[in-house]
Amino acid sequence: QTRRSVLATLLMGSLFLVGCGQKQDAQTQGGASEPQASTEVKTYVVGSDAAYAPFEFQNDKGEVVGFDMDVLNAVAEKGGFKVKVINTPWEGIFATLEQGDRDIIVSSVTITDERKQSMDFSSPYFEARQLIATGKGGETIKSFQDLKGKKVAVQTGTTGDEVVQNLLGKTSVDIKRFESTPLALKELENGGVQAVVGDNGVVQNYVSNNPASNLRMVEDTQSFQPEFYGMAVKKGNQALLDKLNAGIQAIKSDGTYDKIHAKYFGAK
Ligand code: ARG
Repeated sequence: QTRRSVLATLLMGSLFLVGCGQKQDAQTQGGASEPQASTEVKTYVVGSDAAYAPFEFQNDKGEVVGFDMDVLNAVAEKGGFKVKVINTPWEGIFATLEQGDRDIIVSSVTITDERKQSMDFSSPYFEARQLIATGKGGETIKSFQDLKGKKVAVQTGTTGDEVVQNLLGKTSVDIKRFESTPLALKELENGGVQAVVGDNGVVQNYVSNNPASNLRMVEDTQSFQPEFYGMAVKKGNQALLDKLNAGIQAIKSDGTYDKIHAKYFGAK
């Protein structure tokens, strides 16, 4: 009799535990992706501002492609998960993590101490630096300091915006902000500003693809520190972070990363 009830209690107990496990599982699977049976491959929703060639841009079919997407897809393959990439405006892109609309932001996002307070980052997957583009009226610009007294365009809320704010002042009327880096560069082409400060890869890409615009690039490795791109997840989503980091590590050590890098930037 007693033995039977002990067994029954044990059985109920373990059923209860199994139940809890499932509940937990469903929660961690939540976020932007629909809850799925544990046998299914998980799909993570990725936000990316696809006006950032060669890192993320739209091809003729409207798909988001580029260096970042190749890295992401390789990481997903290693980790055995799927991704669904949604073109997402840069402004407000980080809020989509908090809201649960996106699981990961892969958008050439520089890892900064300030951003780390509100989101978590994977290990770095790319090194970048700010670069100045200048055109007509910017002939005297030889360094970052020379931007004082000039009109400068940036993409709102980027690290480029930040460094220019530090130089010219947060509320300077000489800073013109745009929702994308190509729009800032267009403004430079049209003569509305004398310079643009942005991520080197994107500025270089634009200048070489628009030779008629006669833009010139000015490097200043004294003023600009190296920046590192990371994949951002909602603060505390350690499980997803672990998968991303394992994948990044794996593609770096098996040569996949170098292949992707060479495809976009030539051999190192
Ligand atoms: N690396 C810069 C930053 O994190 C700019 C990134 C902009 N990315 C984009 N896809 N528009 O602020």
